[in-house]
Amino acid sequence: MNSEHYQEHIDVLNHRAQQILTREGLQGLVIHSGQPHRQFLDDMNYPFKVNPHFKAWVPLLNLPNSWLIINGTDKPTLVFYRPSDFWHKVSDVPTDDWTASVNIKILTKVDKIAELLPANIQQWAYVGEHLDVAEVLGFKHRNPDGVMNYLHFHRVEKTAYELDCLRAANRLAVLGHHAAKEAFFAGASEYGVQQAYLQATGQLENDMPYGNIIALNENAAILHYTDLTYEAPSAHRSLLIDAGAQVRGYAADITRTYAFEHNDFYHLIQDMDTLQCKIIAQMKPGVRYVDLHVQTHQLLAQVLLDHQLASGDVDSLIESGVTRTFFPHGLGHMLGLQVHDVGGFMHDERGTHMAPPPAHPFLRCTRTLAANQVLTVEPGLYIIDSLLADLADTPAKQLINWSRVDAFRPFGGIRIEDNVIIHSDRTENMTRESGLID
Ligand code: GLY
Ligand code: MN
Ligand code: MN
Repeated sequence: MNSEHYQEHIDVLNHRAQQILTREGLQGLVIHSGQPHRQFLDDMNYPFKVNPHFKAWVPLLNLPNSWLIINGTDKPTLVFYRPSDFWHKVSDVPTDDWTASVNIKILTKVDKIAELLPANIQQWAYVGEHLDVAEVLGFKHRNPDGVMNYLHFHRVEKTAYELDCLRAANRLAVLGHHAAKEAFFAGASEYGVQQAYLQATGQLENDMPYGNIIALNENAAILHYTDLTYEAPSAHRSLLIDAGAQVRGYAADITRTYAFEHNDFYHLIQDMDTLQCKIIAQMKPGVRYVDLHVQTHQLLAQVLLDHQLASGDVDSLIESGVTRTFFPHGLGHMLGLQVHDVGGFMHDERGTHMAPPPAHPFLRCTRTLAANQVLTVEPGLYIIDSLLADLADTPAKQLINWSRVDAFRPFGGIRIEDNVIIHSDRTENMTRESGLID
């Protein structure tokens, strides 16, 4: 991650800004980092989460009330909020290599920002969360669709700097995953696994790009399980850990599932791992992500047959909704400044929405793969009682081997999630290349 790549990144972002500013007849973009959010009836704020458009330009994640002024040609101006405050730590003005690519101005009082903004503010677009602030400041264009759609469409193509950040985030998360695995086999609770994970990554819970999912046994069937249990269960059967890390605001999003013993569940994990690798092996420019998702259902049907969870044939298991019952979410999503990164449904720069197929409403990406995209690939297989109960009310009930379902229920489920970069000539699996093999 060197400053050469950072300058190139700024050049790319400036070029994109210039293109859309010309098209929309605007002078420039004013990007607001955000404002702290106060907790109800309290004198404390929620953890600050920066506007992703702000951290796209500068790696500053905890800097409310700050601004970027971008005209698409000149160095970006960073208006750095640095109040006089004896209650809180005041951020130091950065001096790292990257600062050579921006001009920095200091703002000491929130309400003095108007003095540092361009005079003809009506011709500039505000990009940020606080539309009331933008209105008071006189912005006529606030998150205009034309600008937002263009920026979101292009955010899918990562720069070399962004790929470096994403690789670094993967390396960090992989350290956590190794420690978590060790903690699981040592008999830790979900809380204990979380602590081991955070310790190994050197990041705090609020630094995580999403709430870590650390689920033992049956809890692995709950897709977004984040209420971790403090006590260890009486027996360890399985661990599903979906946990990330972030570097300069770019996220990793990785899942592994472990069986405590070499049993049928262990073999089921191995087959899901093979399935996931087969899908990744097909990723290359020109492939539609929807087709990979559909193919995952085909391979999953075969896994259900091989493990006697279902009977019939592949087509009938898909058509009758059996595969969707075991695998109800999408194959994956774009990854970047946000875990579920923007642009996954965009057909063009104007933001034309490409919806997922009606049979797969939770799929978060309908784009055709192209070089420099970064995606997750996360097939799963879960024993979800509510979905199985719905299926039991349909003719597909006879296709399920209910005693096998009962046998796997105490293990919850499986998800295996890697983060990959599409290159013109190969696919780079950042997760496995960082040493998380199984
Ligand atoms: N960690 C959320 C997801 O995998 O999409
Ligand atoms: Mn995940
Ligand atoms: Mn994911």
